[in-house]
Amino acid sequence: MLMNTKVFPDLDALSRGAMDETLSIIEDAVAKRGRFAIALSGGHTPATMYELWATKPYREKTPWDKVHLFWGDERYVSHDDPLSNFRMTRETLISHVPIPPANVHPMPTLAAPPDKSAAAYEKELREFFGAASPEFDLQLMGIGPEGHTASLFPNSDALEEKQRWVLNVEVPATPPQRITLTLVVLNRARNTMFLVAGQDKREIISALRAEPDGQPSRYPAGRVRPPGPVHWLLDRAAAG
Ligand code: 6PG
Repeated sequence: MLMNTKVFPDLDALSRGAMDETLSIIEDAVAKRGRFAIALSGGHTPATMYELWATKPYREKTPWDKVHLFWGDERYVSHDDPLSNFRMTRETLISHVPIPPANVHPMPTLAAPPDKSAAAYEKELREFFGAASPEFDLQLMGIGPEGHTASLFPNSDALEEKQRWVLNVEVPATPPQRITLTLVVLNRARNTMFLVAGQDKREIISALRAEPDGQPSRYPAGRVRPPGPVHWLLDRAAAG
């Protein structure tokens, strides 16, 4: 699979590279459409980028009233749970920047059964994007060692979804109950950045690279093929 990759010496440099690129996408989106909507990734890798975003110069250069934070996936746990993607983002970023609370759009979790939470988030996205299709200005993605991205895992029926924007899924990871955007949305983004760090990602990166082009990927991450650019930001350990 042809991949647009950029290799950084370590996670700090990768996170800085991701932030520089994000700022320029924000500028462009705000100039063209008056707002910037991002789907954030969970997991550990983006935490360093979120911390950077909350510090100089990135914090000062961001027009927070025009920024809308959404999530690509969430674990079905309380927003205070150590496993919550929202909690991680709140602690690293949201609580340190002047973003209006109405611009923060976490995936709802325990207030309703998982299918209702997914439906409520889809409703929120449909209201935000209106008649337009759900085109995030930027989506941050991660990849698991078996090729999952967001909470789309290999062989999951959710990968075949053609209508719904958001699904509740049960996955072979902890915690198993999750809410995820589907490929219906992920394959429309204007810009995509995969942030991949650590030696445990080396094998999946080389497996993706070895896949023949023009055929559907065996890996969920490889099936994220939106019309806009997809950048793979790797640290040296992951790049091999
Ligand atoms: C999640 C994710 C998931 C993540 C990858 C990589 O909620 O778990 O959004 O898709 O991005 O598992 O996670 P790490 O960055 O922790 O390796």
